[in-house]
Parts: sequence; structure tokens; C-alpha cells
Amino acid sequence: MEVQKKSFGQLPDSQEVGIYTLTNANALKARLMTYGATLVSLEVPDRNGNLADITLGHDSLDGYLRASPYFGCTVGLYGNRIAKGRFTLNGTEYQLAINDGENHLHGGIKGFDKVIWKAEPVLEEGEVSVKFKYLSKDGEEGYPGNLNCMVIYTLTNKNELKISYEATTDKATPVNLTHHSYFNLAGQGEDDILGHELMLNADHYIPVDEGLIPTGEIRSVKGTPWDFTRLKTIGVEIAEVKGGYDHNFVLNGNEQELILAARLHHPGSGRTMEIFTKEPGIQFYSGNFLDGSITGKSGKVYRKHYGLCLETQHFPDSPNKPNFPSTILNPDETYKSLTVHKFYTE
Ligand code: GLA
Repeated sequence: MEVQKKSFGQLPDSQEVGIYTLTNANALKARLMTYGATLVSLEVPDRNGNLADITLGHDSLDGYLRASPYFGCTVGLYGNRIAKGRFTLNGTEYQLAINDGENHLHGGIKGFDKVIWKAEPVLEEGEVSVKFKYLSKDGEEGYPGNLNCMVIYTLTNKNELKISYEATTDKATPVNLTHHSYFNLAGQGEDDILGHELMLNADHYIPVDEGLIPTGEIRSVKGTPWDFTRLKTIGVEIAEVKGGYDHNFVLNGNEQELILAARLHHPGSGRTMEIFTKEPGIQFYSGNFLDGSITGKSGKVYRKHYGLCLETQHFPDSPNKPNFPSTILNPDETYKSLTVHKFYTE
């Protein structure tokens, strides 16, 4: 196992961006940069032991600065949308930055994906990590409170990529951190993901309006194209879902223990990924906004559905939906969350 650090270039304002390469005993390799605490690449073997990079992104920092629909980044302060960027907390109304039509998306104009995180490598028995830290100042993108945030990405010898989050604040604020890799288990840029098979451990999902804001309803998946309770080929019913899948699924868990949230399988290569989480939801986004306008790693063109995101998180617009689990972090509490991606072949 090892961890190596290099420079990944500089931002226009001269800030240095570092990139860490984590390698485990089975040759799995994860590269993480300090800009956005971003997973730049993830190499995992197929059933014949051939490694491929299974995440979309860019070869250089410049690519990320030019065109990145949140490729591989850590999303914060609030993953997904808050209607009109507005919410009321303890009697005060807050207005967040608006960056998606009339709504707030993924932390705003300069979210956690566009800031430099402090990073530190950690080597332990059977695992290598990078510990990222960021202080979001009171008022950033409209959020109340100084939020001290830590995200640790760990590669283990059991072929797991673990992401653990911790945050504390000095004023009550909503917090919803997640990870935004676009996966393609065939290898990035090879093909679309419609032939992948997906299982989601969710009997319910959250319908949304035209602006992708939850209506507030929690609906059964039974008999609908949203039923992934058994492994199902993604392309089979996607035509019945307007725009493609971009929905939060309500996990059959209790937020106390790590539960299996998703299983993704690519029949051609045999690569399989399981996602375990303590979060109550998972956003399944089938790369609907990719349209061939971005050329990514190794000159590959990213067309519609060329990657998919499985973002473990609380539900979108929770600050305005009293029936959803609360996302409010108070000054005397510590936000803690954990998601594990496990890789094997079948
Ligand atoms: C999330 C959202 C999508 C889209 C992508 C980024 O998955 O749910 O609607 O904004 O991020 O393009």
C-alpha cells in the first residue's frame, strides 16, 4: 500500500492544487485532488484482472476548471436542491445563492467542489487515506455559521473506497454532504450505462416537479420504472422516466447502521460495485445532462448516460419539507456520515 503526492497545477489565482495517489495491495488505485476534494480517477480490475478507470473526469486541472458537472467532487454544503435557495431556521429566513434556474444546487455558485481543501495522507494497517479539511465561513453562499468540515477518503485492502464525513458548526445550519462520481464500470468513456444492472435497496422514492424539487410525497416504487428492488438493467424502463432518472430513493434502513444501499453490475466486464451507507437516501442520476459537449480523460467524449451518479445523502429540499428527516446541524452536535464503495467481480 502506498500514498504519493504531486502537484496537479495551479488555480488562476496561483493557489497550488495537490493530487494524491492511493494504491492498495491488489493494485486498485484512487487519485484525489485538493480542488473540491475530488476523486480524479479510480482504477479497478475486471474479471480477467485488467484495470480500467471507472470514473468520468479530466486529465488536467484545467479541464475541471473549464467544464465539470461535479465530476468526482465532494458536494457541500448541501447536496442537491433547495427550492428557491430559501429556508427558515429558528425564525430567521435565509437566502442562499441561486445557481440552478430559480433554485440552489450542490452548495451554490462556489460550493465545496470549487474550493481548495487542506489535505494530509494517512497510512494505517490495511488502508491508506487522504484526510481533507475545509472551513466554510459564516455567510458563504448564504449559509449561517462557521462550518468545520472533514472528509476522509480511504482505500482498503478489501477493495473498498470509504468516504467518512464529520462537521461542526457555531450556528444552526442545514448540512448534506455527498460524493459526486460519475461511474461507468465498463471503463470511463467506453459506452453509456444503460446496459448496467442496478439494485437499489429502496421501496420508496421521492417524486419531483419540473424544477426537480421534491413534491413532498414519498411514493412506493412498486409497479413503476423506479422499482430497482431487484437487479434490473437500467435502460429497460428509462424511456418512461421523463428526462431520465434523477431521483432520490428512500433507503430501507434506520440511519443507525451501515446498510447496503445499491449494487451496480456491468455484465461485460464483471465489475460490480456495492454501496453501503448510513444516510437515509440515495440520489440516482443517470447522466441525463451529459450531451457530448465535454471531452474528458484520454480524449473520450461524454455523451448522454455515459456515467451515473449514486449520491448517498439526505433528501433534496429537506429544510423546507417537515416530513423529511432533518438536515439541521446544531452547535452542540457533530455531523457524521459514512459511505463505503466495495468492488469485486462476478
Ligand atoms: C445531481 C442532480 C442533477 C444534476 C447533477 C449535476 O445528480 O440531481 O440534477 O444537477 O447533480 O449535473
